[in-house]
Amino acid sequence: MESINLGILGMGTVASGLINIIELNNTKVVGSINKQLVVSKVLVKDVNKKRNVNLSADVYTTDAYEIINNADIQIVVELIGGINPAYEYIKDALNGKKHVVTANKALIATRGEELEQLARINGVRLLYEASVGGGIPIINTITENLSANEFEQITGIINGTTNYILTQMTENGLEYEQAVKEAQRLGFAEADPSSDVDGDDAAYKIAILSSIAFNQRINVNDIPKEGITKISKEDIVYAKELGYNIKLLASASKTNDEIELRVHPAFIPSDHPLSTVKNEFNAVFLKGNAAGEIMLYGKGAGSLPTGSAVLNDIVSIIKNECRKYNDGIINADKYKIVNRAYKK
Ligand code: NDP
Ligand code: HSE
Repeated sequence: MESINLGILGMGTVASGLINIIELNNTKVVGSINKQLVVSKVLVKDVNKKRNVNLSADVYTTDAYEIINNADIQIVVELIGGINPAYEYIKDALNGKKHVVTANKALIATRGEELEQLARINGVRLLYEASVGGGIPIINTITENLSANEFEQITGIINGTTNYILTQMTENGLEYEQAVKEAQRLGFAEADPSSDVDGDDAAYKIAILSSIAFNQRINVNDIPKEGITKISKEDIVYAKELGYNIKLLASASKTNDEIELRVHPAFIPSDHPLSTVKNEFNAVFLKGNAAGEIMLYGKGAGSLPTGSAVLNDIVSIIKNECRKYNDGIINADKYKIVNRAYKK
């Protein structure tokens, strides 16, 4: 049976989820692509670190170019996170005519347009389903399943860490710092949790979703955002007494020629469906002009759910089923991006 060789940049929470799913669901995956997936090389910072995956010691390297310049590797999976050096590695891999799969929302939100263009020029794919919503197939839903719709609204809870923290403060009376530590231990929080709690992570994600849904260039710096760091246990108790839960919401709404984007904590009535979204779970409402309202719900972070989205992108590339995905961030400047947040 033919093999497809993968080079993986990083072997942390998401990459180890990917390896564990490849092992767990091997029969199904191999059956669907009729090819064997082989992990040829893995980039890490520390080759001596003990890891919870079944890979031989000789796959590890600290030299990314053993992967990027390796003629036998067809797909590079970037799971180191951050902008640099991930940007350079992906750029070089695409220029070397390798397909790339990434979960890196910070990079896709800020340099996605340029990288997608590079993928197109080189005739390869750049897929990033795992960058938003962990295991929820939100990007595929927008670009594939709802491609016949003009979108009007995207609203949701798209950061698992802050949702976990707020849930733990609401339901178990945890202090903020305790809940942050727990989210890190469980692998939901980014290495630097400020990206989650300050709202940057949710801003990256709503920028990606809205640029794809509205075919519009979105500058993440234009998105007004407020995180959850100012929310106290008292706020949560008062909200509860009044019949509300506090959730970090991200939203994008389009009117005739304007798009308004926001990330901020909001009071959600306790009987609203978003109030039932707890811990690391995410939920996204989409409103299309034909399909109407659709809500997607699932695990928005974590090793196996996110690894599942990464593996699905790999399988799509191998099956060559991933259509015009690289037209995703098309980036017309058709709409005016407005900021009405917090105006008195
Ligand atoms: P981790 O911090 O758990 O893992 C990062 C891995 O990358 C580690 O193995 C680390 O090596 C390696 N690494 C980091 N920088 C370098 C470098 N410069 N050179 C070589 N190796 C490097 O990250 P996650 O798995 O949590 O996240 C990966 C990506 O997935 C990020 O873009 C993140 O935003 C995204 N993501 C994460 C989710 C989650 O639930 N955690 C969910 C959705 C997306 P070493 O092990 O030796 O330290
Ligand atoms: N830190 C992110 C979150 C990971 O908590 O949602 C998933 O993108």
